[in-house]
Amino acid sequence: MLSGLYKLARPALFQIDAETAHGLMIKAMKAGALPPCGKTESEKLQQKLFGLTFKNPVGLAAGFDKNAEVITPILKMDFGFAEAGTVTPKPQDGNARPRIFRDPKNEAVINRMGFPNKGLAVFKTNIQNYRKNPVKGGIVGINIGMNKDQTDAAADYTLLIRELKDYADYLTVNISSPNTPGLRDLQQKDNLAALLKTLMAERGTTPLLVKLAPDLTEAQQEEVAGVLMAAKVDGAILCNTTLDRPEILAPGFRDEKGGLSGTPVRAKSTAAIRNFYRLTGGKLPIIGVGGISSATHAYEKIRAGASLVQLYTGLVYEGPAVAHSINTELLKLMDRDGLTSITQAVGTDGQ
Ligand code: FNR
Repeated sequence: MLSGLYKLARPALFQIDAETAHGLMIKAMKAGALPPCGKTESEKLQQKLFGLTFKNPVGLAAGFDKNAEVITPILKMDFGFAEAGTVTPKPQDGNARPRIFRDPKNEAVINRMGFPNKGLAVFKTNIQNYRKNPVKGGIVGINIGMNKDQTDAAADYTLLIRELKDYADYLTVNISSPNTPGLRDLQQKDNLAALLKTLMAERGTTPLLVKLAPDLTEAQQEEVAGVLMAAKVDGAILCNTTLDRPEILAPGFRDEKGGLSGTPVRAKSTAAIRNFYRLTGGKLPIIGVGGISSATHAYEKIRAGASLVQLYTGLVYEGPAVAHSINTELLKLMDRDGLTSITQAVGTDGQ
């Protein structure tokens, strides 16, 4: 019903600049103007990971709620968890607009936002307010990044962890946005080992995950997997947006600079998940993200080795009912395969 309404409204919404449409969505959510999306209650979808109980495996990926303004409405859209951010210590404007582009035929987005956000102080106030009246059973991750003009990455990440760890169910170290110069170099083996040593000492008992790019070579993936295991981080998020530009993309759209998300990144992300699962012997929980807009896509990532999944572009194309629809259909896929817990599906293809 709600997804049908969204499909009707979509052409009008897509006439508007993508970032303006996003702003309208945030406003509507803040005003409580979204109709109820439905709620899935099933122990079969529940999982315990890094000491947290996730009521379902479908999360909203980082970048949607950069300033932690709409956590409550997100969790009420049947997302089991929400990742707020990326937040940086100082507020910053990001790149010049327009900086988000859509290719509806391929259900793709390119963004070169460059971490526009209101900075740590505003984010902290917002998350503190959320914690006063949290959504029961909802999990909130905080995704952290460094300011564009920062040369000492560890200083920014350390400050953010110190200030925000008490308000985060988990922290995500984002070293994979393509839109902050030098950020992806932090994935290099020695840089990463040194950075994680500092950050793991700072995080106290808050679970810490690392978000990676889909553009790592297999050799790099192997090195990074080794570093993550040695540093004893709690999990990996695979993947951020890609710099790839497949031929199928619409002309014009294809030439925009930035990170590509949605359907064209799906297979690449799933392959990275499968490889990481193998490289870590299934011992490092993975959150799979990239091109998910249906239960089939989510199940595919889980079977490749993801314990949880996230999406962003799927929300743009499918609308606010997307998480509920995925949860409902996942239960049917599990019934078909005779599974009583979603955990039983994790990493089951190719085993
Ligand atoms: C993103 N993504 C992102 N990731 C992140 O770690 N921090 C961020 O601030 C953002 N910002 C952002 C803005 C926009 C407009 C998009 C489309 C994406 C990446 C996102 O969380 C996700 O990893 C990728 O988009 C792949 O998943 P989907 O979108 O294909 O489901």
